[in-house]
Amino acid sequence: MSDLSGAIGIIGGTGLTTLSGLKIAGTRALETLWGEPSSELVEGHLDGQSVVFLSRHGNPHRIPPHEVNYRANIQALYDVGVRTVVGVNAVGGIHPEMGPARVVVPDQIIDYTWGRASTFFEGALERVTHIDFTWPYDQAARDVLMQAATAHDVPFSGFGVYGATQGPRLETAAEIRRMERDGCDLVGMTGMPEAALAAELGMRYVCLGLVVNWAAGKSDHVITMEEIEAAIDQGMSGVRRILEVSMAG
Ligand code: HPA
Repeated sequence: MSDLSGAIGIIGGTGLTTLSGLKIAGTRALETLWGEPSSELVEGHLDGQSVVFLSRHGNPHRIPPHEVNYRANIQALYDVGVRTVVGVNAVGGIHPEMGPARVVVPDQIIDYTWGRASTFFEGALERVTHIDFTWPYDQAARDVLMQAATAHDVPFSGFGVYGATQGPRLETAAEIRRMERDGCDLVGMTGMPEAALAAELGMRYVCLGLVVNWAAGKSDHVITMEEIEAAIDQGMSGVRRILEVSMAG
């Protein structure tokens, strides 16, 4: 991401707990004001770009979406100097174009999560702060990811409303129909409050989504872990390619 300054933070989700190709310079176990992040920060270089990688669900994968300490994760990246974050998210597809193994760079969010620590601005404050969140994803970073996908023939959808649900259970068919009526194209459990917390600290944030299943009721079968794993196997190489190419600038 040659036009973006500083180290890029990559938060890996389901299917991306490590980043191959990263020339590792070191790891840091940090404690933040908000507690411990999900994993050590892995610092290194990807095609010359300084990168800090964090595994959202821990490494190995053990923290469910509603128990991720999103504040600690974002704060830890901020504390080591990261100002641009790529959040990689496994998602369910609602829009007809967004079937399994499809890469998506969404442009909007609807938040259905509840009970999560979702702001830095609470407790003993000097003043109340309301950030602007009209455009939750950084457009310049979205462009970099989409250009990388185009250049390397990774098919993708360059739009989409990400509906963030609480989990860890998947949705009912009626919940997905309601989300569709609301305008959601994708459904995932980890997009929020991560994006909002990054915005609260003034960081650029972008989502790189990989569809790993049709959302509930959008296919003729129930959702299985086998189909999710198959879609991850099929699609994650495209996600890795986009990350590597966009870092090379
Ligand atoms: N729903 C919510 N989160 C998800 C899904 C889904 O169908 N697939 C992957 N993450």
